[in-house]
Amino acid sequence: MNMGALILCDALWGDSGKGKISAYLCRKHDAKYCIRAGTGTNAGHSVYEGNKLFKLRQLPCGFLNDKTVVMVGSGVAVDPQVFLDEVKEYGLRSRAKVDFRCPIITEEYRLAESRDSSLSEIGSTKSGTGYTLAQFRLRKAKQARDIPELKDYLADVAEEANNACEAGEKVIVECSQGTMLSLALSPDYPYVTSDNCTAIAAADDAGLNWRAIEDVFMVVKALPTRVGKGPLPYEMSVQEIEKRRLAEYGVVTGRPRRKASQIDMRILKYVSMLNAPSKIALTFCDHYDPDITGANSKTQLTPKILKLIREIEETTRAKVVIAETGKDLNNIIDLSESSDRIPRALV
Ligand code: IMP
Ligand code: MG
Repeated sequence: MNMGALILCDALWGDSGKGKISAYLCRKHDAKYCIRAGTGTNAGHSVYEGNKLFKLRQLPCGFLNDKTVVMVGSGVAVDPQVFLDEVKEYGLRSRAKVDFRCPIITEEYRLAESRDSSLSEIGSTKSGTGYTLAQFRLRKAKQARDIPELKDYLADVAEEANNACEAGEKVIVECSQGTMLSLALSPDYPYVTSDNCTAIAAADDAGLNWRAIEDVFMVVKALPTRVGKGPLPYEMSVQEIEKRRLAEYGVVTGRPRRKASQIDMRILKYVSMLNAPSKIALTFCDHYDPDITGANSKTQLTPKILKLIREIEETTRAKVVIAETGKDLNNIIDLSESSDRIPRALV
């Protein structure tokens, strides 16, 4: 088996089910570490197992594999209360770590962000992440090592992660948000978040060196969504979203998500250039074709989904190895298992 870091990034505007794919891959590979990358607590990751919904804002969803140690990379803004609450709620005292260099989100930064009218205008989640990263760049923010309550969880995540990769262990990096929300690489500024969200930015958030990277897994949402303002090609009306029963709400803010009726392939090509994915996970297939809802075998792939897979593979120049077909952790078709990925009769 190949070993090293697998970076999980999002192609478009986030909310594509990275948390669930991360949990699935941590179990599949029995990952040693799952590292949260991305900007901060603005992103909510969620995953269903049976009827149980797990919601996280600070720690990665990879904790669903019992043996995986979950860590927060040094580029991620940390809200100590959110971190400690998640550790407690999911019983992670013995296997949660935070890099000692992480910048700390304070009450003051959260309040400042919530009062900032220009951030309201762009639809910020007001988690305090942007203010914290700005203060960090000014060398004014506190770090995790300055917070007594975090003392038991401090680690040098970069060192542990690089050493693990060098030793041939599996490390999964769970990035947050999406490439098209990247501060310095999305064309949509100011309708972006407070840092880049590409695969390389995620590796940097974790402190991984390039040699440790084995795979870049790009998650593509079959019907893209966007929260807050900014361009969304092929945007559907609220009425159409409701009529097709496709409504989605933000994990952190509860806001309804804007939704597109198809992927803009020019944008997918652009983000593929930025991320150079080696593998693709296609999520929300059930929203694109309700006939595939709940499927977990490749024999159940529908002609409509197969056509979309082909188009995505041509555009991204990477193989679709996972198709997600519903909310539950089991609603996944793993296409990476055999070389005869797609039944010939359907192609
Ligand atoms: P902020 O990063 O919370 O300030 O938000 C800036 C922009 O990024 C807004 O349009 C948000 O809706 C968007 N954004 C931030 N985090 C997420 C996320 O996890 N998913 C989707 N959009 C996000
Ligand atoms: Mg960063």
